[in-house]
Amino acid sequence: METSAGSKNIRLRRMSLRDLPEVLKIERLSFSNPWLSSTFEGEIQNIGLSNPIVATDETTDRILGYLIYWIIRDEVQINNIAVHPDYRRRRIAEDMLRGMLDILEEQGIQFISLEVRAGNIAARTLYDKLGFKPIGLRKEYYSNPAEDAVVMGLTFGAVRT
Ligand SMILES: CC(C)(COP(=O)(O)OP(=O)(O)OC[C@H]1O[C@@H](n2cnc3c(N)ncnc32)[C@H](O)[C@@H]1OP(=O)(O)O)[C@@H](O)C(=O)NCCC(=O)NCCS
Repeated sequence: METSAGSKNIRLRRMSLRDLPEVLKIERLSFSNPWLSSTFEGEIQNIGLSNPIVATDETTDRILGYLIYWIIRDEVQINNIAVHPDYRRRRIAEDMLRGMLDILEEQGIQFISLEVRAGNIAARTLYDKLGFKPIGLRKEYYSNPAEDAVVMGLTFGAVRT
């Protein structure tokens, strides 16, 4: 799937084991408690459940970001999303999520949920833009630093602009 993120043309495809060195670099630059390589390996190998997607530069094939979600019957859980710090604010995350939403809507998915650090304004603004609403709070869910998780959900049929 080809899509245009700002001035950059990106391609979305399934993550493979070969992608892990680049993915792990982005993960470590993006989170205070980064996932281990073995966690990504598990996602890549869990073909029935997990959808690990990378966004690459169409020209160089460099990995710019990734998105991981699980499809559980008619519901979806977003488990990870990050964009390389050098490529943020170019709508790469938005394009990955919109690409996912288009596919899921066709598959008859009813509901999508995710957890986000309460203070992660970039991510919360992104989800809000796509129509996700806060639906719950998990007290001190995160560590390093301790922080609440806001649970956000999107029900298909709700307006997406
Ligand atoms: C959150 C993250 C994935 C966003 O990626 P991105 O590619 O830079 O986001 P986009 O360019 O697609 O932004 C789309 C919209 O999200 C919002 N947004 C993104 N970054 C923002 C920021 N720093 N401040 C405020 N709003 C922001 C804006 O509404 C933006 O739309 P606009 O360009 O019309 O203003 C990125 O900041 C990141 O990797 N953060 C570290 C990892 C992380 O926190 N992941 C989320 C875990 S729940």
